[in-house]
Parts: sequence; structure tokens; C-alpha cells
Amino acid sequence: MHNDPLHTALAVATEAGAVLLQHLALPREIAEKSQRADLVTDADRASERLIVERLKSAYPAATILAEESGELAGSAHERWIVDPLDGTTNFAHGYPLFCISIAYEAGGELVAGVVHAPAMGETFAALRGEGATCNGKPIAVSAIARLADALTCTGFRPADYDRNGRAFEAVSRRAQGVRRDGSAALDLAYVACGRFDGFWELDLRPWDVAAGTLLVREAGGIVTQTDGSDARLDAGSILATNGRLHEELRAALG
Ligand code: IPD
Ligand code: CA
Ligand code: CA
Repeated sequence: MHNDPLHTALAVATEAGAVLLQHLALPREIAEKSQRADLVTDADRASERLIVERLKSAYPAATILAEESGELAGSAHERWIVDPLDGTTNFAHGYPLFCISIAYEAGGELVAGVVHAPAMGETFAALRGEGATCNGKPIAVSAIARLADALTCTGFRPADYDRNGRAFEAVSRRAQGVRRDGSAALDLAYVACGRFDGFWELDLRPWDVAAGTLLVREAGGIVTQTDGSDARLDAGSILATNGRLHEELRAALG
């Protein structure tokens, strides 16, 4: 098992998906974290407990960076990056766009990534150099070449409207559509499979973007920061597109 991080991630994400669906059927306990609309539910915690336990037992030496627990320090060479429930606000309202995001990094490079959306019955997976799949079938980014023909997506919290409003308006006026689907990891998976032609967001964390970044790249797309500079998991901002649209969308963001 140890030399197959993708299979480990798939197995663990599937198990955690079942935990999320169980909690979806239960009355939910929701607490606000640092700011309004930053929610944590009993489901986030239960999913993370399970994922961390499984990863620790399969990879006892690896570092695990998980949203609710922070960094569980281990080997500097191997790191798991985990969002146990991405799209908590959607989850809390019973809106089915939520997922588990698990990525595996070796020597600072993303090697494997899984985004599992249990209520949608879809599992996206990517392995460095081997491409990306949805439910086992190869996926690729779209071929849309103009923003005017593109369906795009972004995300921001209520408190961040001022920082986002201008770009949101600019792209809304030029693209075919802009969605705020509420799960950055799934938004990236949807760029990877060609449903969205581009996605951008300003204040994301490594666990929101790690698996999705690998998915987009392995599906033939491009990932940078919103100003076009090299992507970094801790950069905050991300711009992910099918490649053809990248420059036009970057310019539209201002
Ligand atoms: C959030 C979602 C959302 C994005 C937020 C993230 P969470 O993650 O990805 O789409 O706009 O910035 O924090 O809190 O649901 O794991
Ligand atoms: Ca998240
Ligand atoms: Ca989360």
C-alpha cells in the first residue's frame, strides 16, 4: 500500500464520503469559525478523524496537513494535504456540491490527488504524469478559446465582496456565465473535466487547491496565481483554466 498513494487516497476518500453522507441525513451541528460564513460541522470533524487515522496507519512517517487539525509533523519528504469537507456551507444547506480533497506530495511535488463528491457520485483522480480521470474514465479540459464562450467559476465569502466585486463584475459582463459553486476543490475538478473553462479565487488554503491543481494540470490545463505568476499551494490566489483562456481571463481580472 505504501508505494501507492493514489489507491490509498481513493480508498480513504470513499470511506470518508460515506461518513459525510451519513451526517447529511442527520440533524447538523454547525458552528461558525473565525468569521461569518466560515462553518465547521460535526461532519468535517468526523471525516477528518477518519482520514487522518487511515493515512497515519498507511503512511506512519508522512506529514499530514489537514484543515481542522493543522500540521501533524512527520517526514519532510512526504506530505498528505487534506480537506475533509470542502463546501461546508453547501453541505450545511443540503446542496450536493461538496467533496473530500486529498493530495499526496513527495519531495515538494504533487504526485497524487483525489476529489471525491459523494452526493454527486463522482470521484476525480490524478497521478503525476499519468493523466486525470472521473470515475475511472480519462478527462480533459475544454477547448473553449474565448471568454465570451466560457463558463467560469469563482468563490468568495460575504466579508470579501469588496476585494472581489470588481473582477466578478468584469468577468460576469464578458463570459457566458460565472458561477459561485461553493467548493473550490470541486470547482477545480470541474475545470479538469471541461465543465468550467476557468476558475479563480483569492483566499484559498493549500487543502482547498492541492488535489485540484494536480487534476487541472494532468487534464491539460494551466494553474497560476491570479496575476499569472507561478502557482504555490500557500499563495492564496489561484487561476486555473483550460490553457487557451488563461491570458484573457487573467487580463479580465485586472
Ligand atoms: C471553502 C470552499 C469555498 C471557498 C472558501 C473555502 P470549506 O472551503 O472551498 O468554495 O470559497 O474560500 O474556504 O470551508 O468549505 O472547506
Ligand atoms: Ca475548503
Ligand atoms: Ca473544509
